[in-house]
Amino acid sequence: MALVKDILVSMDYGPAPEANEPVVGWLDQHKDGFNHFIDGKFVAPSEGERFAVFNPAYETELAQVAQGSAADVDKAVKAARKAFKSWSALSGHDRAVYLYAIARHIQKRERFLSVLETMDNGKPIRETRDIDIPLVARHFYHHAGWAELIESEFPGEGPVGVCGQIIPWNFPLLMLAWKIAPALAAGNTVVLKPAEYTPLTALAFAEICREVGLPAGVVNIVTGDGVTGNAIVEHPDVDKIAFTGSTEVGRIIREKTAGSGKKLSLELGGKSPFIVFDDADLDGAVEGVVDAIWFNQGQVCCAGSRLLVQEGVAEAVYAKLRTRMASLRVGDPLDKSVDMGAIVDPVQLKRIKELVAKGEAEGATLFQANKGLPSKGCFFPPSLFTNVAPASTIAEVEIFGPVLAAMTFRTPDEAVAIANNSRFGLAASVWSENINLTLDVAAKLKAGVVWINSTNMFDAAAGFGGYRESGYGREGGREGMAEYLKPVIDKPLKADEKIAAKLSALPVADEEISGLPSIDRTAKLYVGGKQARPDSGYSYTVLGPKGQPISQAGLGNRKDIRNAVEAAGKAGSWGGATAHNRAQVLYYVAENLSSRAKEFEERIVAMTGVSAKAAAEEVAVSIRRTFWYAAQADKFDGAVHATKSRHVTLAMNEAFGNMGILCPDEAPLLGFVSLVMPAISMGNRVIVVPSSSHPLAATDFYQILDTSDVPAGVVNIVTGERDVLAKTLAEHDDVAALWYFGSKAGSAMVEKASAGNLKPVWSNQGVPRRWSEASGQGREFLRRATQVKNIWVPYGE
Ligand code: NAI
Repeated sequence: MALVKDILVSMDYGPAPEANEPVVGWLDQHKDGFNHFIDGKFVAPSEGERFAVFNPAYETELAQVAQGSAADVDKAVKAARKAFKSWSALSGHDRAVYLYAIARHIQKRERFLSVLETMDNGKPIRETRDIDIPLVARHFYHHAGWAELIESEFPGEGPVGVCGQIIPWNFPLLMLAWKIAPALAAGNTVVLKPAEYTPLTALAFAEICREVGLPAGVVNIVTGDGVTGNAIVEHPDVDKIAFTGSTEVGRIIREKTAGSGKKLSLELGGKSPFIVFDDADLDGAVEGVVDAIWFNQGQVCCAGSRLLVQEGVAEAVYAKLRTRMASLRVGDPLDKSVDMGAIVDPVQLKRIKELVAKGEAEGATLFQANKGLPSKGCFFPPSLFTNVAPASTIAEVEIFGPVLAAMTFRTPDEAVAIANNSRFGLAASVWSENINLTLDVAAKLKAGVVWINSTNMFDAAAGFGGYRESGYGREGGREGMAEYLKPVIDKPLKADEKIAAKLSALPVADEEISGLPSIDRTAKLYVGGKQARPDSGYSYTVLGPKGQPISQAGLGNRKDIRNAVEAAGKAGSWGGATAHNRAQVLYYVAENLSSRAKEFEERIVAMTGVSAKAAAEEVAVSIRRTFWYAAQADKFDGAVHATKSRHVTLAMNEAFGNMGILCPDEAPLLGFVSLVMPAISMGNRVIVVPSSSHPLAATDFYQILDTSDVPAGVVNIVTGERDVLAKTLAEHDDVAALWYFGSKAGSAMVEKASAGNLKPVWSNQGVPRRWSEASGQGREFLRRATQVKNIWVPYGE
């Protein structure tokens, strides 16, 4: 028998198993197999097919679950569509009452849900009990609040419609809450598909929906694999897709939804840096690493999987880590004293093993604290790679397992450069006792979430989501609500099928064409603050309202777009200028436009044939609009979210950097101004393609830019055929966001082409806008011109 004095030395302790009888009893009740939850009822799969779900720690079958077919998905979408009418018509308060009831019921079943989640996923009971499930309840409470406030906090906005939601297996019930709570609060109805490895807590949640009397069809849950997910993505009556999962599938979904008009949010993979400076509290940082990469067996999209340590303290940090790793307990996830449980599935375990073998083959040094893994089950030890080359596989690829890749750096600049040298941009963690340094680094990191001296902090009040190939859209907080709302536009215009036809009829002529009546000059491109000849050496004839040639404009090609992107990239200081400075420049633009108003009015009449009065109105609104965005430059600011105690969580609206803008044909000056001004007021640099049919208002605009202190490269103008140039912009890796206002076919084309670097695209699906009215201006434009970075700063001793 162990003596107390020995135990005090070894600090060893025995197992503390959590009882699971209630869950086993519940599973027994469903021995014949689980069904889908559609229209408020549990419904057998239409094709009668089921698949097995396993407990990865014991390798035992837990249940048989319905495999959703396209017919099941269709049934669920129809139920959601039917329910949408009355659910969206409820007052925010009425919806809040339901969400509040769901939160209460989750709390009442917290232990049951924790145990079920642990058995289904393999994660330790400590995590489901203390983190996952309490956050689920918190999410529903928080969003009961948004439902209550919807009319006052989001005036002029309404629900999107039927939302298809596809979630992964790493935080099954939490991801469900992140998706369903905001959707319902905003008045949407949903069809949700849990991951095939972990569908059980979603089905328990369906029971809660019944218990609280949620109207039938508001929440529908269809279980199944990627085929079922694909049926949701392809369903024509789904208005929005919200997806969390791998970047590969995110990319497929982007391509499949292109041109469908479905709103899309993607929360994808990551390879998040965990940066330790030499003045950090090293013991604190080591505990941070434990939470960053060994929490949930490292199967966390925002796991701090790249450890960057300042050179002088690297060996000390590694030594502390190795010691700490040796005390991590890996074992039965239902044991309350276990730190790490099982990997979700043998498929995932195999993937981890293969990547680790690759890391060794590539020359990195592997350390594993192998403290006796259970003989059975999907277990993998905590692992640390040192001597990792920054360009090696394990430094670049998301392993999604308990594997840390460590590298060193010398200076803060180098730390930022290595951290940002990734396709991803989900999260980052920065450790130093120097708050100035941490905030400076946080501002420079390309990541949607930055934790200072902390890691893996989540709260319903803060937005979560990525930059770059980590996806777009936010979940949580005010910014998360925006994903489930859309502006309510009175009498929206219909898609204009003629837009594309007009473009394809553009006559293309070379420079030799001359002697055309009333041609005054050939408008050049405007790149890097200078007028430039098009690379092709060609121009095209711009026609007036009666089809008569009125001028020529440069015919830009992909080389011109590349030059413009390069010039925009060099104007990075614009984003660093104060908002006050940017506002001054925009006011100056408005002033100069005002002093040349007459000239622009005449140009608009000559190009489009509208009346002088209408042209004067277009110029006047353009001036007012420029003022409006000048005013917003220092007012569309962020927030301090109320998250955890003793934290400030700063939600910063950051510019994307380089943005591509394709202008509409309607309102050639106002359309241009309405898109360029919000983008640059927020600190972006733009590559703009003006209306192909009426480019001259934009080419005249160079002179305004030249005389208004707009720095070179902030606005670059390339004329030519919109969809040809749009494709190059959509495919360009250094263009971080794209706005497209053209044809329906063009919208589909750019959305598909954007899948490469997964840039967010805002497209009009061929629907013209009334630019002079409310729909031509507003916070939506500013929101689309920025991405929110949440920086968590703890305080207190
Ligand atoms: P996955 O992306 O295939 O699965 C996520 C969800 O998408 C599941 O519900 C799945 O059924 C569904 N799905 C799969 N193919 C689909 C399709 N074509 N259309 C619609 N839905 C589809 O992820 P998987 O295979 O489970 O894991 C593979 C890798 O993905 C992991 O090793 C990890 O690197 C990454 N991953 C990242 C997650 C994150 O939170 N960022 C979560 C899960 C996985």
